[in-house]
Amino acid sequence: MRIYLIGYMGSGKSSIGKKLASRMGYAFLDLDTRIEEEHNQSVSDIFADKGERAFRDLERKALHQTISTDQVVVSTGGGTPVYFDNMKWMNKHGLCVYLKAGPEVLSNRLKHNQQLRPLIASLNEEELMEFIVDQLEQRSPFYEQASLHLEAKDLTPAVLEQEIRAWLDTHSKA
Ligand code: S3P
Repeated sequence: MRIYLIGYMGSGKSSIGKKLASRMGYAFLDLDTRIEEEHNQSVSDIFADKGERAFRDLERKALHQTISTDQVVVSTGGGTPVYFDNMKWMNKHGLCVYLKAGPEVLSNRLKHNQQLRPLIASLNEEELMEFIVDQLEQRSPFYEQASLHLEAKDLTPAVLEQEIRAWLDTHSKA
């Protein structure tokens, strides 16, 4: 089973994903890290040098490469589900889990490490909040296509694993 963790920047996909993978004995793959390693450039530098459109192409390519691993937890980028047919593709090839969080939680988490994220690097606190609210409105219809929706705040790797196993049990009997 491939597990795709989706959700907005700051929803905790990478940190909880790593722990989930180790609990389940699965491989862990972070799409952004994969792109950075393959192209020897940070996500911010790719945005600056080649533009967002080029980044989205690389992101789709990295996503499609996840097909080669079966037992894997993939932490996607906040924008991954929104571009091309990525959401449909992930639903077809694995289980999508939406780590859901509201604008307050997200902005509190993101304001401490905006520099790593080109879309929000230059925003002040007020602009950041507005940006998150706007983008969540645009992106939620994509995120909500995930099979499992879980509140990201206070979510532990153990509960995440439990919810995934329960979902898999129910759906393998269907
Ligand atoms: C993006 C989210 C980032 C990264 C890029 C664009 C987005 O990933 O892919 O900066 O469009 O939301 P994280 O969600 O891991 O921060």
